[in-house]
This record gives sequence, C-alpha cells and structure tokens, in this order.
Amino acid sequence: MTPAERARIERDFMRHINAGQVRYLRAGHLDVIEHDRQGAGFTDPLSGRRMIDAFSSAGSFNVGRHNPQVMAALDQALDDADLGTHGFVSRAKVELAQALVDVAPPGLDRVAFAAGGGDAIDCAFKLARGATGRTTIVSTVKAYHGHTGLALSANGKPHYRAYCEPLAPGFRFAPFNDLDAMARLVDDDTAAVVVEPVQGEAGIFVGTPEYLAGLRDLCDRHGALLIFDEIQTGWCRTGRMFACEHSGVVPDIMTVAKSMGGGLFPNAALLYRGTPALAGFVEADPWFHRSVGGGSDLGCRVSLAVIRYLREHRIWENAAARGRQLRAALDALRRDNPRVIREVRGIGLMVGIEYLHEFMGPMMSDALARHGVFAAYSGNAPQVMRFMVPVTVGDQDMAQLIAAIQAAVADMKRLLPLALPAARIPGVLRLINDERVQTALFGAMRRVEDLAGALKGGRR
Ligand SMILES: Cc1ncc(COP(=O)(O)O)c(C=O)c1O
Repeated sequence: MTPAERARIERDFMRHINAGQVRYLRAGHLDVIEHDRQGAGFTDPLSGRRMIDAFSSAGSFNVGRHNPQVMAALDQALDDADLGTHGFVSRAKVELAQALVDVAPPGLDRVAFAAGGGDAIDCAFKLARGATGRTTIVSTVKAYHGHTGLALSANGKPHYRAYCEPLAPGFRFAPFNDLDAMARLVDDDTAAVVVEPVQGEAGIFVGTPEYLAGLRDLCDRHGALLIFDEIQTGWCRTGRMFACEHSGVVPDIMTVAKSMGGGLFPNAALLYRGTPALAGFVEADPWFHRSVGGGSDLGCRVSLAVIRYLREHRIWENAAARGRQLRAALDALRRDNPRVIREVRGIGLMVGIEYLHEFMGPMMSDALARHGVFAAYSGNAPQVMRFMVPVTVGDQDMAQLIAAIQAAVADMKRLLPLALPAARIPGVLRLINDERVQTALFGAMRRVEDLAGALKGGRR
C-alpha cells in the first residue's frame, strides 16, 4: 500500500463513514491499517513493521489472527453450507450447542443463539424478565454490556447513554465488588443481577470470589437470576475457559460472543440453566428472541472449530503462564515508575496498567504504537491501558510486547516534566481528561510531527 492509497482510504472513510473516528485514531497514533494478520499481530503496510495486537478487538482474537485450524473449518463449511434458515433445526446448531454445554460451568445446559455480544445481552435480559415476570435489572457502575437497546440501558458509563435517554426503564447500578451496595438494590422485584466476572471497559477489575459468591447467595435469597457476561472474559482469556471458574460460582445465565467466532465469522450465544422457569418460558415462547445471523450454520461450524482448538491445545494453560510472565514484568515496572503507574491489575492475559492521570492513557497508546504494539485504553476508564494479546501468544511476541511496554513507559517519563506542571494549573487536568480535548491536543501534536517527518523525508 502506498502513502497515497492509504490517504485515499482514510479520506473516503471520513467522508462516508465517520470523520470523528479517524481524527481520534490519528491523535492516538492508532490509525493503523491492518495487513498480513497472523498469530499475535499484523503488519503496518506503510512501514512494513510488525505490530503486536495487544487489544485483540477487546478479546475477539483469542485464538490468534487467521488461526489456520479455524480457517480450515470455515473453508470446509463454505463448501457445503451457508447461513442456513434461521429458526430451522440443523446439525451444526446441535453440535455446537452440545460442545458449548460440555465446556460450560455445570448446570448451564441450554443454549440460545444471538448475532453478537450486545444482542446476547438483550436476549439474556428478555429471558430474565420473561421467566421471572419481574422488571428490575441491577448492573454495575462503569459496566460495559454493549450498545444495543437493553444492553445500553445496563451500560454503567453515563457518557454512552446520555444522547439516547430515555433508555429502557428498570435498570439500577451498584459499584462493582461492593456486595453491601448491591444488597441495597436487590429486592423481590429484581429479575436479574448482571456482572462481568472481570470488568473490562471499566478498567480491568477482577471480581473477588467472595463478591461473586455473595451475588449468587443474594440472588438465591430474592429469587433473582444471576447473569455473568463472559463476552470479554471467556474463551481462555483469564487462564480458565471462563472467568467464573476461578471462583467456582455458576450463574443462571452466561453470555458468550467475540472469540466464539474465532475472529473470522461472528457468532454469539447464551447458556442458561434448564430450570422449569427458564426452560418453561422458552418452550412457551420459542420466538422470544430471533436473529438471522446468530447461530448460523457457518457460524456454528467456526465456533465448533474454536472450541476444539482451545481444548486440544489446552490454551487456558498458555494464557495463565503468559499472564504470570506479563504480570511479573509489569509489577517490576510499577515499582520502578511510581510517578507514572498507580496500579497493575488483572488475571491471565486480561491485564491493565492504571496511570496516575487520565490523559496518560492516550499518551501511552501513542508511545506503544511507536514501539510496535497496538493497545487501547479501557473505554470507560481512559487512565487504564489494557493488554489483551491473543491467548495463543508465544515466547518471541511476549518478549517484544514486554520490551515495548518498558520502552513506552520510559518515553512517558521523559514527557512528564512538561505534562505534570501543566496538569497542576487549576482546571487544566479536568480539561485534558476530556476525550474531545485529548483528540484535539494529540491530533495537533501529531500534525506537527507528521509535518516534521515529511520535511525530513520520513514516513508520513
Ligand atoms: C463485556 C462485554 N459485553 C458485551 C459486549 C458487546 O459485544 P458486541 O460488540 O459484540 O455487541 C462487549 C464488547 O466489547 C463486552 O466487552
């Protein structure tokens, strides 16, 4: 790809799709066009540089980019199948349902398919309300459950919701990992409590086993359903097939998506207990949720290959071991850089670094991109940089990732003598913590840089 071609693609994207998105990506040095997607990364076609994909589309590429085993299954499926008529019975659907039940926590023996993560969450809420005849759904502060109708109503970041109010009524929010606060909101009108076992977009907060067990108990006492959103945490991300296995707590409903499609063909589902209330509701109202794309025959064949791959290679073990390696390196980095890093948290290969200030998130994305790592800060917490490489990651890519993070933190430290005094001026910190201001500020810096590069005959 030539620079002119790339400029044309960006220009047309701005014209026909979303100009604000391009400005934002440019400002954060995230304006990469992916090429040669393989394993734990891709190539930047302009520089020819390989980038480690430490975002994985928020957990969508757990099996790696272009996983050969999953591609072969898709190829084969294309030979003799298509989407299939939605709502019809098919071999692919039942084979996948069986495989899902086999890997799911015990008791989750029923399956419903959905088109994507948000759609699976919508389906879970409809099932909970339909089966209990109750309305209230309690979510958590800064939770992320998607951008579809009901899912957005459970989204714990006001910024995403504000433009769309009034959303669906009946949603409440309790701080995450705070059982007492949750107990104050759950009552006999509660249909369900929904949590991510590890909050992702909120900034990587691991639900403690006591909290998750407490939620189970609270729901049981009030006859409410417990929903675990494993859309980001599932498929070996945290060192187990599903994150809830760390606590041994089994929900009534569990949503899965993202890596279930192997990064090649979207598919999503929810698993639920076949209790009389839940199974009875679905039997009485079999069309309570419908999707042409969810649970398609092609999608099911791909998901089956993903599950086979994860099990055959015991990928959860790689996630746990690589996660420990990353964690050790980041903990050492925090000890050496207390003026930059506030905390390192996470589990398996779902790890976050929290910086001292929000504006450091975009600075770090920028610094990492320069060192060959594509990473994105948490959507609901810009001060937390997420590291979610494919869970198949090997030695060499891991070493490159760690070296790049170390180099990027060193770059940030060099900028601090400028950034920190500016942040102490009253009002400035609040101003530069605003996403739009960051886009403008880092965008302007980027333009100056690009100009300097062009004058030197550089890349851009
Ligand atoms: C925890 C969680 N739930 C739901 C969703 C929504 O998934 P989708 O984008 O497929 O609708 C996401 C996506 O980022 C997620 O991380």
